[in-house]
Amino acid sequence: MSRPRILDLFCCSGGAGVGYARAGFDVVGVDIQPRPRYPLPFVQADALDVLRDVDYLRQFHAVHTSPPCQAKCSLTKGTNAAMAERYVDLYPIVAPLLYAAGVPGVIENPAARADVVLCGEMFGLGVLRHRRFELANWVTSKPKHVKHRGRVRGWRHGQYHDGPYIAAYGKGGGKGSASEIQEAMGITWTDVHEELTEAIPPAYTEWIGGRLMKHLTAAETG
Ligand SMILES: C[S@@+](CC[C@H](N)C(=O)[O-])C[C@H]1O[C@@H](n2cnc3c(N)ncnc32)[C@H](O)[C@@H]1O
Repeated sequence: MSRPRILDLFCCSGGAGVGYARAGFDVVGVDIQPRPRYPLPFVQADALDVLRDVDYLRQFHAVHTSPPCQAKCSLTKGTNAAMAERYVDLYPIVAPLLYAAGVPGVIENPAARADVVLCGEMFGLGVLRHRRFELANWVTSKPKHVKHRGRVRGWRHGQYHDGPYIAAYGKGGGKGSASEIQEAMGITWTDVHEELTEAIPPAYTEWIGGRLMKHLTAAETG
C-alpha cells in the first residue's frame, strides 16, 4: 500500500501526529486553536464538525482522536476538582461519531476503553505517562505492561523522591522543565510547556500506527 492517510483530530502540536508519520502515514492535523508548531499539514477547525462530515472522513484510511481529557484526569480530581468544571468532556460525543463513520479509529482519553494501554517505560522514555487507547472498527492484541525502573522525581506529601522519570504536567515541586519534558518524551519541535504537557509521546502512536498499518494492509489484501 502507498502511504495511507490518517486524520489527527484534536492534534495540538503533534505528539500523536509525528508518531503516525514515523509509522508511515501521511497525516493531517485538526485543532480548534492555531498550532503553528504542528510539523505536518494542519487545518484549524472544530473537530466535532469534521467528525460529522462522513464524506470527508472517508477520504482517510484511519482517524486518530485525542478529545480534551482534563475533566477525567486524576490531576483534576481532589483539590483541583473545581478546575474540571472549566472543561467539557468530549469523549461521549466523539466515540459514537467515530464508530458510525466506519473508518478504523483510535480514541485516546481517560474515559476510553482500555484496548491498548501504553507507558513510557515500554519505550525506554523518561516519563511514565500511562495512556489508554480505544480502537474503533479494528482490533489488535494488547501489549504487556513492563515493570517501572523506579519512581517519578519530585516532591509529594512533603517528601522528595528521586527517580528516573520526570512529571510532565504542571509546574514546581520538582516537575520537569520544558527542556526536560522534550528530552523525556522525544519531542523536539515545540518547547511550549502547555503543548508538551498535553502531548502523547510519539513513540506511542508509532507503535499503534505500526499495528494499524498491518491491519490496513491485511484488509486491503483480503
Ligand atoms: C490533549 S490535547 C491533544 C494532544 C495531542 N494528541 C498530542 O499528542 O500532542 C487536546 C487538543 O484538543 C484541542 N481542542 C479542544 N476542543 C477542540 C475542538 N472542538 N476541535 C478541535 N480541537 C479541539 C485543544 O486545543 C488541544 O490542542
